[in-house]
Amino acid sequence: MGVLDLASSRAAAATIVVLGLVLSFGVVCNGGKTSSFVRKVEKTVDMPLDSDVFKVPPGYNAPQQVHITQGDQLGKAVIVSWVTVDEPGSSSVLYWSANSKKKKAEGKITTYKFYNYTSGYIHHTTVRNLMFNTKYYYVVGIGHTERQFWFITPPEVGPDASYTFGLIGDLGQSYDSNKTLTHYELNPQKGQAVLFVGDLSYADNYTNHDNVRWDTWGRFVERSVAYQPWIWTAGNHEIDFAPEIGETKPFKPYSHRYHVPYKASGSTSPFWYSIKRASAYIIVLSSYSAYGKYTPQYKWLEEELPKVNRSETPWLIVLMHSPWYNSYNYHYMEGETMRVMYERWFVTYKVDVVFAGHVHAYERSERVSNVAYNIVNGICKPVKDQYAPVYITIGDGGNLEGLATNMTEPQPDYSAYREASFGHATFNIKNRTHAYYSWHRNQDGYAVKADSMWFFNRFYHPVDDSTSAE
Ligand SMILES: [Fe+2]
Repeated sequence: MGVLDLASSRAAAATIVVLGLVLSFGVVCNGGKTSSFVRKVEKTVDMPLDSDVFKVPPGYNAPQQVHITQGDQLGKAVIVSWVTVDEPGSSSVLYWSANSKKKKAEGKITTYKFYNYTSGYIHHTTVRNLMFNTKYYYVVGIGHTERQFWFITPPEVGPDASYTFGLIGDLGQSYDSNKTLTHYELNPQKGQAVLFVGDLSYADNYTNHDNVRWDTWGRFVERSVAYQPWIWTAGNHEIDFAPEIGETKPFKPYSHRYHVPYKASGSTSPFWYSIKRASAYIIVLSSYSAYGKYTPQYKWLEEELPKVNRSETPWLIVLMHSPWYNSYNYHYMEGETMRVMYERWFVTYKVDVVFAGHVHAYERSERVSNVAYNIVNGICKPVKDQYAPVYITIGDGGNLEGLATNMTEPQPDYSAYREASFGHATFNIKNRTHAYYSWHRNQDGYAVKADSMWFFNRFYHPVDDSTSAE
């Protein structure tokens, strides 16, 4: 090799090094992060019927499947629900706080049949006029076997009320589901209420949608949802539409078992509604109810969004089941038609964050919108948009269908972080300007954050909070 050759080969090597640096930097820039975390490969299986977590509480007609959710628009009411199996029994809820005498609320019983299954007696009782920020004890099963639980009401609705929401989706009742729930319970971030993004029991994966698996699920999650409200969103596994066995009324088991305060927000259906809780305004939408123009859901949302007063509730959160921005090869573009209908409103009204499930994995987007397209202009690419929400897919609760591991490649620009692992998240609102979000995978210790982000409020502090390098 001559001197000249040596010099040129050194120059070439230097060029390769520089090019390599540019390329690797480019990979970091363009599409966020696809985690290389090696998850477990065993099959996800449901816990057997005789598992501890499904145990029927002892005693004659003992209330089981006890669960609570918010019962009004402000958080001063709670819907208490449970099932009795021996006889109807009392629908009364006895409740009290440290400084108040015992009061009683009366409720109603419902039952339903699904093919060859007959439900127990499902009780729904709304406890009203509670004080904010107060611990209440409550007793159900009066007259037979009594069981006592407690809950803490949220702070009064206001712009700086701090509050921590848990986020769980697509939970099911597998061994992994149990790990997810345990991790949520033991997370030092301490969620005070769960925003549940749909797909509860997965009973419909059993022969004839075996509704016994709705009961087992109710007993499994009682250890959390009897003590803190879970805010419900309907997923596709709540539809239970089975014409082959004569079951043609969609959402029959779900709507008998899980009541929500939809009338308080002017909704005409339990599948879309809103609540205020602390400093958050939470809008729940239904991916599986009509949402086109002129439909009840469309008209409700059109009137609902202008009602949000950000100086009262700075944080505007939307829950839905089917994600609009999803770069996995599962349920790909299933959320597209709803995105086309509503995304412009989400940008106009500066939604802070949208949580969805459905895809059994985790993904977080940058703030992005795709609203410029008008059928002829060809402008149909998602672009960075600081008025747009962050989209988070948290369908990684651990149900028996297993993980969505197959991703579209390359990772789109808008996708900030994606990983096929089971887990849950928390959204910790500090004040009107800042919220701390973190995602926790089941394989890690309880305090470990696998992904996190500081959210800057879109109304009070709308500065760039993107996490990928430019
Ligand atoms: Fe789903």
